[in-house]
Amino acid sequence: MVTEPQMTEWWRSAVFYQIYPRSWADSNGDGIGDFDGMTDRLGYLRDVLRVDAVWVSPFYPSPQADFGYDVSDYCDVDPMFGDLAAFDRFLSAAHDLDLKVVVDWVPNHTSNQHPWFSDGDKRDWYVWRNGSELPNNWKSVFGGPAWSRGPDGDAWYLHSFLPEQPDLNWRNPAVESAMFETLEFWLDRGVDGFRIDVAHRCMKDPLLRDNPPAVEPATGYKINPEYAAFEHIHDLAHPDIHGLFRRIRTLVDSYPGDKVLIGEIHEYDWRVWASYYGRDLDELHLPFNFSLLPAGVDPDAIMRAIEGLEAAIPTGAWPNWVLGNHDEPRIATRLGHEQSKAAAVLLLTLRGTPTIYYGDELGFPEAQIGTAAVRDPWGLRMPGFGRDGCRTPMQWDAGPNAGFAPPEAEPWLPVGHHAQSVATQLSRPDSHLNLYRRLLDVRRAAPALMEGSVRLLSQWGRPNPLTFERWFGDDRVVVVANLSEEPVTTDLAGTVLAGTDPHRWDSRLEGSTMLAPWEAVVLS
Ligand code: NOJ
Ligand code: CA
Repeated sequence: MVTEPQMTEWWRSAVFYQIYPRSWADSNGDGIGDFDGMTDRLGYLRDVLRVDAVWVSPFYPSPQADFGYDVSDYCDVDPMFGDLAAFDRFLSAAHDLDLKVVVDWVPNHTSNQHPWFSDGDKRDWYVWRNGSELPNNWKSVFGGPAWSRGPDGDAWYLHSFLPEQPDLNWRNPAVESAMFETLEFWLDRGVDGFRIDVAHRCMKDPLLRDNPPAVEPATGYKINPEYAAFEHIHDLAHPDIHGLFRRIRTLVDSYPGDKVLIGEIHEYDWRVWASYYGRDLDELHLPFNFSLLPAGVDPDAIMRAIEGLEAAIPTGAWPNWVLGNHDEPRIATRLGHEQSKAAAVLLLTLRGTPTIYYGDELGFPEAQIGTAAVRDPWGLRMPGFGRDGCRTPMQWDAGPNAGFAPPEAEPWLPVGHHAQSVATQLSRPDSHLNLYRRLLDVRRAAPALMEGSVRLLSQWGRPNPLTFERWFGDDRVVVVANLSEEPVTTDLAGTVLAGTDPHRWDSRLEGSTMLAPWEAVVLS
């Protein structure tokens, strides 16, 4: 018999919200978001959207070669975002509002400006190889070889991303203890957990063997073809990663208060993905499940994602779902405006912890950034690959700079259209924001949605409308989503708790109801 997971840990029932700190709220008018701005706006998360936890992307001292994913000091705050006192104010204000705070931890690489990198005594803290030829065929995710010559030109160092982001040598115990101290630093300050950047990349093949060519090279939007041409069996995910995850878990478990470990792991083989929970559920609490990204709004693919996850997830482990983040094109553009509302219904009703990327609750489209305005280093290295379009400023109101920054400020990326502001959307019943708010309220009130089991249902043996049931004890909820351009009939009956069309909220479906294209309903 399958036992229900106990919802004792807060992160199982929580909804997470990702803040990209450059882009959320600028208090001092330099055009870049900061901690004081974030602190001032926390009420939105607590009282308007009503989420439970925030994940804050990196805010540590950094030359900003990859906008903070190049850390030069793990134990401080970049002056651009404030200082440690501003961080502490943010954390305690969040906790006063019952919001948990998870911070990004970037263990795979540091900045090349981190003092460790130029310290001759710490040469073995990074991955160096001598020789005239490139040490192997590994490619940087951001284009070109994963190796560059060091400052004195005599040896190569490994960088899975930019040359400004040298990979740490996690096989050196001194690296592990120094990096564990950085976890302790933030745990001691009171954070509720970590989102671990490219988590399974920390352990590579110790022999640095070549990657074989890809059997079926991945294709698609924003896949670097040079990188996709290989099977990445040696440059990441060496089995030793499990031991490292277990040691990290032991460390965070030594703190009271259910600290959470969320891992950024782009792994689409369900069995491998599930292995990161740990054989005894002693590794990551939530390895990010990115399967909805390639699935788009294809009902077959979404069904396979639900089935794949439910078949693979170990008993007692808890799922999670995500639609977008600061690396992916905005969902309202990737999927379409109406489609992105149906996707929001799925995100907030599937079994597991959802993460909402800031701005998606407002239906932000991908911003079109002219060549001259490109800021993302990936976009500068590989035109067309930039991620600026999903990182534009949060829009609070229809005023100057959308309330993101004082009126005279010049935001670091252009501000979008006022129809996507919080104030405008609150006044429109059919807005993305009001749909998210409704879904969050319904979710919180329904044990079936918070912790219930899931079962796919099929209407007339067809994948569309995608239909699934959630239940817990006597509480039962059915979600029906028409993932197609055509109207479709559903014969299910029930009260509409939430749905993409607000006119239906609280009304009854009595069977044989026509759902509009991309319409989704949550029925009691
Ligand atoms: C994944 C992060 O999400 C991305 O933004 C970053 O560029 C790379 N890791 C490198 O840290
Ligand atoms: Ca600022």
